[in-house]
Amino acid sequence: MLAGDGIGPEIMTEARKVLEVVNASQNLGLELDEALVGGAAIDAFGTALPDDTFAKCADAEAILLGAVGGPKWDTLPPADRPEKAGLLEIRKRLDLFGNLRPAILYPQLAGASSLKPELVAGLDILIVRELTGGIYFGQPRGIRELENGEREGYNTYVYNESQIRRIAKVAFELAQKRGGRLCSVDKANVLEVTMLWREVVQDMAKDYPDVELSHMYVDNAAMQLVRAPKQFDVVVTGNMFGDILSDAAAMLTGSIGMLPSASLDVNGRGMYEPCHGSAPDIAGQGIANPLATILSVAMMLRYSCAEPQAAQLIEDAVSRVLDQGLRTADIYSEGCRKVSTSEMGDAVVAALTQG
Ligand code: NAI
Ligand code: MG
Repeated sequence: MLAGDGIGPEIMTEARKVLEVVNASQNLGLELDEALVGGAAIDAFGTALPDDTFAKCADAEAILLGAVGGPKWDTLPPADRPEKAGLLEIRKRLDLFGNLRPAILYPQLAGASSLKPELVAGLDILIVRELTGGIYFGQPRGIRELENGEREGYNTYVYNESQIRRIAKVAFELAQKRGGRLCSVDKANVLEVTMLWREVVQDMAKDYPDVELSHMYVDNAAMQLVRAPKQFDVVVTGNMFGDILSDAAAMLTGSIGMLPSASLDVNGRGMYEPCHGSAPDIAGQGIANPLATILSVAMMLRYSCAEPQAAQLIEDAVSRVLDQGLRTADIYSEGCRKVSTSEMGDAVVAALTQG
């Protein structure tokens, strides 16, 4: 458990409460350990990812992360900041290439969506984003000075076939377990790398006859996501397109405070974290929504610990708490009861223990 910075420690406290209850009641036998990462580790050890922290991560079946970063560390060189030197470094070293970002609209929160209720009622999309390749990591990259004295920025967008195959495999298999539909998003009309992407994914489809595969250009996908989001089941795409589309999908559900995520390696070991950041604007006030982190615990139990029933118990408990009308400030609406971070965590624990 890496609490991190900003609201990280507050939301992690609640997630830990929930995990401890399920761990005991379901006899999961999970051993929990904690370590410093991000800004908190910079302050204590001068580095965002101390060796001891990485060793614990490498040794663990799963990693639960709060969030890292904040204005305090923004003056450091980019490569030393909490996000790059902490979070991205763990992802890279553990090869956590498969990012799962569900966008689920709880019926209780339908009013919080930026879209009309009828467009989003029952929304349940899973975006599968490749996380360790693509333009965010491609070499060469940099800012160079041209002969005329002008500067030029450049990055390289690159995917090889095995990188495409392993992320598509994750997506096909998840589509089999869900609604049976997979949409692969690319820009194959313009970018060669995604022409290859489309070809490889298309070629794999014959191994998954039970999955209905479609392809979509990313600009159209962005449009369709806000026009008729329920047409999607599982979406698979590269790093940058996935970054953008998953944030757009997040807003369809109303609050980033509700959305969990997973980043998996080839063996199913993973890092689980809320989609949001460290929210420095509300840190220390006890008002952050802990549900994204609590739902990340559920994803962890499902995908890395092979405990789907325990995962379901947590998801049901969250749903029940929403039924009771309890809301943190970010999801509050009239007629509901506004609760603090810890009251929300306690309510989930109560819903769990009342069965
Ligand atoms: P952010 O997600 O931290 O905050 C955006 C807005 O959403 C803020 O108004 C915040 O108060 C609100 N918010 C976020 N989580 C919430 C929660 N659980 N409950 C209620 N409200 C919530 O994104 P922002 O402001 O762009 O970044 C803040 C810091 O977090 C930066 O240092 C950034 O680099 C870092 N960051 C870290 C991430 C990670 O650790 N995975 C991901 C994104 C940003
Ligand atoms: Mg993003």
